[in-house]
Amino acid sequence: MTATTDHLRPLLEKLTLEQKAALIQGADFWTTTPLPEIGLRALTLSDGPAGVRGPRWDEREPSLNMPSGSALAASWDVDLAYRYGAAAASEARRKGVDVVLGPTINLHRSPLGGRHFECLSEDPELTAELGAAYVRGLQENGVAATPKHYVANDSETDRFTVDVEVDDRALRELYLAPFERAVEAGAWSIMSAYNSVDGVTMTENELLEDPLNSEWGFDGVVVSDWTAVRSLDAIAAAQDLAMPGPAPAWADLVAAVRDGRVQESDIDRKVLRILLLAERVGALEGSDAIVPAPLDASAFAREAAIEGTVLLQNSGVLPLDPAALTRIAVIGHNAKDARTQGGGSATVLPESVVSPLDALCESFASADVRYEIGAVVQEGVAEFPLAAITNPVTGEPGLRVSFLAADGTELFTEDRRATALVWFGGDAPIGASRTIVLATRFTPTETGEIQLGFAGANPGRVFVDDKLVLDDVPVLEGTDLGAAFLNPPSLTAAVRVEAGRPVDIRAEFTRESRGGIDGALSVTLGIAPERTDPDLLIARAAEAARAAEVAVVVVGTNSAVESEGYDRVDLDLPGRQDDLVRAVAATGTPTIVVVNAGSPVVLPWASSVAAIVQGYFGGQEFGHAVADVLTGAAEPGGRLPTTWPATLADVPVSDVTPVEGRLYYDEGINIGYRAWLKNAAEPAFPFGHGLGYTQWSWDAAHRTGDTVEVTVTNTGARTGKQVVQVYAERTDSSVDRPVRWLVGFAVAQVAAGDTATVTIPVPARRLAHWTGEWVVEPGTYTLAVGSSVAELPLRVEWTQE
Ligand code: BGC
Repeated sequence: MTATTDHLRPLLEKLTLEQKAALIQGADFWTTTPLPEIGLRALTLSDGPAGVRGPRWDEREPSLNMPSGSALAASWDVDLAYRYGAAAASEARRKGVDVVLGPTINLHRSPLGGRHFECLSEDPELTAELGAAYVRGLQENGVAATPKHYVANDSETDRFTVDVEVDDRALRELYLAPFERAVEAGAWSIMSAYNSVDGVTMTENELLEDPLNSEWGFDGVVVSDWTAVRSLDAIAAAQDLAMPGPAPAWADLVAAVRDGRVQESDIDRKVLRILLLAERVGALEGSDAIVPAPLDASAFAREAAIEGTVLLQNSGVLPLDPAALTRIAVIGHNAKDARTQGGGSATVLPESVVSPLDALCESFASADVRYEIGAVVQEGVAEFPLAAITNPVTGEPGLRVSFLAADGTELFTEDRRATALVWFGGDAPIGASRTIVLATRFTPTETGEIQLGFAGANPGRVFVDDKLVLDDVPVLEGTDLGAAFLNPPSLTAAVRVEAGRPVDIRAEFTRESRGGIDGALSVTLGIAPERTDPDLLIARAAEAARAAEVAVVVVGTNSAVESEGYDRVDLDLPGRQDDLVRAVAATGTPTIVVVNAGSPVVLPWASSVAAIVQGYFGGQEFGHAVADVLTGAAEPGGRLPTTWPATLADVPVSDVTPVEGRLYYDEGINIGYRAWLKNAAEPAFPFGHGLGYTQWSWDAAHRTGDTVEVTVTNTGARTGKQVVQVYAERTDSSVDRPVRWLVGFAVAQVAAGDTATVTIPVPARRLAHWTGEWVVEPGTYTLAVGSSVAELPLRVEWTQE
């Protein structure tokens, strides 16, 4: 329901034009302009969505790292998504944040999308239900959600400028649908995207007014994506808040009102919406913020990771019995250095991370667990372990960072505890500094040659014991924030070190505006992986597997693959990981592969391994979730929220590169499983698929009013989770429709031997199609019910008036 702002008008009337102009753009990177005259404090906004980073990108203020969006969606669990939102609210308040920039509810149009890991699903209904639950979980705990990016920001290539050509039906039925549901859930804010739709950039696009405001009754604030406001035309459009601020495109705003280019009433409307948002989050005097429910952070992160873990294939080797195994090989770079989240603005800095190796050693405490890296996955420089570095000034673990003006004057210093550093807002005077100096004392644990260096966008020099070893200028590809700033190139030099003999390392970076955002800087100082012969690494891993009763290989992507600002170019596992799995499987030792990726990857060896578990980017408790699922301490809770292809060539949408600036959504309403069904093509694993450790019978399904009631029995010997999925079909339709489409779903947790009935609402709108308005075609639909889009044992005839 649209809220009134009448009671806020007296506050609006107290404001000068200058104050109003300041309020509708940020005061800085993450906050809005405070106006104490009317009792308004600054609002703080923060990424999200899988945790809350807070206004500083700083390891000294760690955040809960929850599983990424695709893992959340794999739970198919609306209640879990609500609690995930509530957990984000609790984190937000702990960090002084009022507005979380999430959930990301663009669709998995193509598995190549760089931010696929951050989005939920290829299906609009699954995305809409879970996205809306996240919004309610946040907001019922007093913190604003910002579903993003409105709209059609489903891939990253040329994201600032790409013009998406999408027909109205696909826009309504697919891409807008999750936003519509988020507004129904009461979203207090929405983020407008960088891209254009049908020729108009989203911060100026009519879609902000219609359907968002006029049809859906959105009463919140449209926040721009960072720097997405391009001109004063965004004022007349329903773009409410330009972030970060002050926005260069609106520098002339006050003058533009005075000379009649811009209507003051348009600004007033935005101000009222921002005041309403402030009232909702308790930033306006006299308004109280709701206090979030208490959170057991790591228990929730572990539960969410388990519920998002998909057992793709199992010959019966799983679950493993810890009491029966004495020798286990754990193999893979990601087993030790797991990726718990994707790259880009969604990054949060967890206090600690449980790797699969750590957790498997815990779970198999009485077994001999042997680890081999097998194949190098992470490319480029990785930060120094904290235990190996000492701050030369304080003597504590860490490093000293100094910010120097052009004349060498020290402007600011920080004592940090990590050598992967990002300044993106916060207190450091990046803009005023000419040189940034990092100083630390590194104590090697092994003797030999290391590849010492940095990853960054700025020219850098590295000294070891005052001797210059590296002096280089990174070559940047593209100018996008993500590519140039959050995933910059690495430069290294070979340096000989001795175990136990500390060396003083000083690195100096010259600040230049090189494709990044002014006032932002990122640099990682550290060591690149050793260049051991890849065949030798594989041979060592195979030898470890041969000597073991079971081999667990954790494969995955690296930070250069799934991130923001660019798309993937293929679906392959990086490096020699496919060869590694083949070699391990060829030993004859039962091989369990755990995939640590936020999006589908090609698994060409699938038929030769005993089990495959998709663990996604499982958050800081990823390792525990993997061990719980492998040992059967927990049921694998996940079902695929997106079709898993066998090869890139089979993927329905495999080109996300704009042509002359345009990206054509020519497939219309058929993305994801809808396209696979239309083409009668076989994926590696279908949408909705995921195995458990018990057995089920599908007993009955029938209609009661506007709901379907489905009865299932757990016929196995242990408690299990079933995700009951309901798809509609309409063979005699007068319009072109998908072969079938998801209309509802529910989770059933059922004890061994028990029967459960779930009730799934199917409002008429789920059957409707868009013709310029929503039309429900009368006649008979078939509702097909089962455990995936390809496993549908029950059918219900559904007649619609
Ligand atoms: C991303 C947004 C994010 C914003 C602030 C942008 O580059 O697209 O999702 O919220 O940065 O970090």
